[in-house]
Amino acid sequence: MDLDGKISLITGAGQGIGEGIAKVLAAHGSKVVLVDLNGDAAKKVSDQINSNIPDAAISFQANLTDETAIAAMIEFAHEKFNRLDCICNNAAASKGIGPVEDYALQDVQATLDLTFTALWKCLQAEIKYLKHHGNPASIVNISSNSALTGYAFNSIYAASKAAVNNLTQSVAKELARKNIRVNAVSPGTINTPGVKRYFEEEPSAKEALEKSSLLRRIGEPEEIGEMVAFLLSERSSFITGQIISVDGGSSIN
Ligand SMILES: NC(=O)c1ccc[n+]([C@@H]2O[C@H](COP(=O)([O-])OP(=O)(O)OC[C@H]3O[C@@H](n4cnc5c(N)ncnc54)[C@H](O)[C@@H]3O)[C@@H](O)[C@H]2O)c1
Repeated sequence: MDLDGKISLITGAGQGIGEGIAKVLAAHGSKVVLVDLNGDAAKKVSDQINSNIPDAAISFQANLTDETAIAAMIEFAHEKFNRLDCICNNAAASKGIGPVEDYALQDVQATLDLTFTALWKCLQAEIKYLKHHGNPASIVNISSNSALTGYAFNSIYAASKAAVNNLTQSVAKELARKNIRVNAVSPGTINTPGVKRYFEEEPSAKEALEKSSLLRRIGEPEEIGEMVAFLLSERSSFITGQIISVDGGSSIN
């Protein structure tokens, strides 16, 4: 399989897209380190993976807004496996919602802290580790189509993701000569706990979002996982610095 023998780290792997990514990477042959603020959720997913593929997964609790926790996450992966080949920076969340003029500064700060700054802090620690160990690697950051189109009433989240896209390109330029590729995957609407909750509260939104995709449906977390697996594997050896939408065509609809 294309990720046989690889060691992968996935942030925000306790549910949703991160859970799907972790399961797909393990199915492609990788050992997976699942990191989440919710340690019990990450352990539960890790146990599910191990029940199908023995010893494929291990979990670690960390609040990724905290540099000390990020350092501990890298140290944990190193102690367990002695190296890292593949990294998916997936954890993010938007805090607050509403017209831009009403957005509270503390919600702006909280959204940036998790969606942009925590990812940047993770990248810093990951890159230092990868450079120190000198092994080729591939990194995928999870973005959002809202970065490409804007997102009414969720503007700060969209702007944070646009910053993630731009950071992905800069870091890809910085790391290419070190044999480290960096790409971003930009999901459309995906069947995650948050989206399910939203559809329960606003049933009309489900139909509208399904119609917004050329394929007339929302995506599954594993469909993001398949693109991440490809970008983390050597099958994508000539791809770096790209932002790739996985969205049933909604970004061009
Ligand atoms: N769901 C979608 O439709 C959709 C669409 C576009 C982009 N995305 C992006 O995909 C990624 C995953 O989204 P999701 O919908 O699966 O999210 P989710 O909220 O279902 O899961 C996110 C996970 O991250 C963890 N997390 C939150 N804060 C953390 C912290 N400080 N430290 C460590 N872990 C933390 C949560 O505990 C949770 O398990 C995010 O980057 C999101 O912006 C999602």
